[in-house]
Amino acid sequence: MKNSIYLLLFSILILSSCTTKQKEEVSAKYVEEFHSFAQPNKAVIKHMDLDVIVDFDKQIIKGKVSYQIEHQEANEIILDSKFLNIEKVAIDGAPTTFHLGRMDQQLGQALHIKLKPKTKAITIYYETTNQTEALQWLSPQQTADKTHPFLLTQGQAILTRTWIPIQDSPQLRVTYNAKVQVPNALMAVMSAENPKERAIDGIYNFKMRQAISPYLIALAVGDIAYKSISPQTGVYAEKSMLEKVHYEFADMDKMLKAAENLYGTYAWDQFDVIVLPPSFPFGGMENPRLTFATPTVIAGDRSLTSLVAHELAHSWSGNLVTNATWDDFWLNEGFTVYFEMRIMEALYGKDRANMLALISQQDLAEEIEGFKEEPEKTHLKLNLKGHNPDDGMNSIAYDKGYLFLRTLEEKVGREKFDQFLKTYFEKHAFSTMYTEKFIAYLNKELLEKHQVTFNTEEWIYQAGIPSNKAIIESDKFQIVEQMLVDFMKTNTINESLTKAWTTQEWVHFVRNIPKEMTTKQIAILDKKFDLSHAKNSYIAMVWYDQCIRHNYHENGIDQQIETFLMTVGRRWYVSTIYTALKESEQQDKALEIYKKARPNYHMVTANSIDKLLGYKG
Ligand code: BES
Ligand code: ZN
Repeated sequence: MKNSIYLLLFSILILSSCTTKQKEEVSAKYVEEFHSFAQPNKAVIKHMDLDVIVDFDKQIIKGKVSYQIEHQEANEIILDSKFLNIEKVAIDGAPTTFHLGRMDQQLGQALHIKLKPKTKAITIYYETTNQTEALQWLSPQQTADKTHPFLLTQGQAILTRTWIPIQDSPQLRVTYNAKVQVPNALMAVMSAENPKERAIDGIYNFKMRQAISPYLIALAVGDIAYKSISPQTGVYAEKSMLEKVHYEFADMDKMLKAAENLYGTYAWDQFDVIVLPPSFPFGGMENPRLTFATPTVIAGDRSLTSLVAHELAHSWSGNLVTNATWDDFWLNEGFTVYFEMRIMEALYGKDRANMLALISQQDLAEEIEGFKEEPEKTHLKLNLKGHNPDDGMNSIAYDKGYLFLRTLEEKVGREKFDQFLKTYFEKHAFSTMYTEKFIAYLNKELLEKHQVTFNTEEWIYQAGIPSNKAIIESDKFQIVEQMLVDFMKTNTINESLTKAWTTQEWVHFVRNIPKEMTTKQIAILDKKFDLSHAKNSYIAMVWYDQCIRHNYHENGIDQQIETFLMTVGRRWYVSTIYTALKESEQQDKALEIYKKARPNYHMVTANSIDKLLGYKG
């Protein structure tokens, strides 16, 4: 052992006295990352110029992408590419040779481009294919207004390489300009400085002056319009949705101010949200300057806007300080949930924030239960080598990450914790973070500084929830729980008490319906509250789950569930429902609906449900 350490030291000494290229390798700036073929320590992209046409007829994006690159006389640069047709490549304007490596089902192919010692720029001419996973092409029928088609992209985690050949690792950052040509009737927006009006010629020029990770490059094209909320915030949506969206997100500017008040100046100038058609696979996606959001949060009563707080919080945790690898995903999401809760508390008070925190805790408990046989999946720091990063995208990163930070906050006190977090974002702005680096920083700047001992390693590297977890309480939820207990015994419920319930109380009520509740009792609840026709997507989703598991089929519920699965593509929602069907021996029914619904889903949703239901097409 000792010998090998000497050997290592010795070879570092030798290397560091060798050529500049070898020196580069020793003072490696970028860490090893298993989800990209790029070797950024040898040659790295710094700025992107994208010039593409969006062809709705052929459903392809076609054009060229140029990069300004940095290297120490490297003889090649390696990019990531998946399901793209690479037509030709040029260096500093002159054609060069390139080759594509072996196809990996998850990662795609390495694109090797020959360089000359002084090459500063490369250009790749390419087009996407019908296998391109990042893109979702929607027919007019799949939009709110039903008259024009729509296109949206989803880059996280490793899909940007399916619509742009790029070094697709979260630890890299690029600034970019883009010229995007779309049909005249449509407007294009990106994670960049955006137009507020439609361009008559269909040509849009974008500029992103702050450097961002490749997974945050995003584009949406559709018949959309803009409405501002404040000078710094506003919303994009299809015309029939615009007013509703504007109403729903009216507090966006207050959220932004509250966030800045907590953890420092917003670094991205503008904060807008675009509400997409319902097949968007996520609740929200924190594309810088322009969050992408599902219309399922447009509830009419502003009850699901914690999603905006969440995506806004990513402007610090994620977009400013970015997880270096997907194994460190919790640094993005756990911090963001913590920050989200703080924004919600600042705007709406502790009651609301604690209800959200308890919902998060229940999500966590259920996730941990689901991983009974694979406890290593409940570690915060993951090991996704050889796996799709999507496999790590569950509530552990979010909710265990959150609970860890909340527990820490309670241990050291809010004032010290806030100071620590604020400085953390400031010091690491526009750079990346990995778990070990965070632990070292935490030890030095918070724990040792204030002479606090804390079981950080247990939280991060061990399974389950450590026993020192913060205790979260909500009087409101206690009442809800008591009402369920009473209802189980008496079959009656004090309706007047439910009149003032918030969405979170309803969700908590429905989710905690005990297994033992009879189908008849479900029917009583449905008669009283008509939950089968709940307008709120979150309440509806948790109710559908219960109806399936309790074998309840009255009041048109089956039709409601089917319609929901046919129109909504939000992965979390639809996978909850398909899972319920599968686990209650209704796999056939699940497959029957899925076959019809699948064309409506984005590939990230379809891939997950394929796996869940064992669907092979
Ligand atoms: N960045 C995530 C979405 C994501 C994660 C996309 C991993 C692809 C891979 C986003 O910020 C997010 O967490 N969205 C949540 C909503 C949030 C309120 C918890 C979602 O989509 O449900
Ligand atoms: Zn998030």
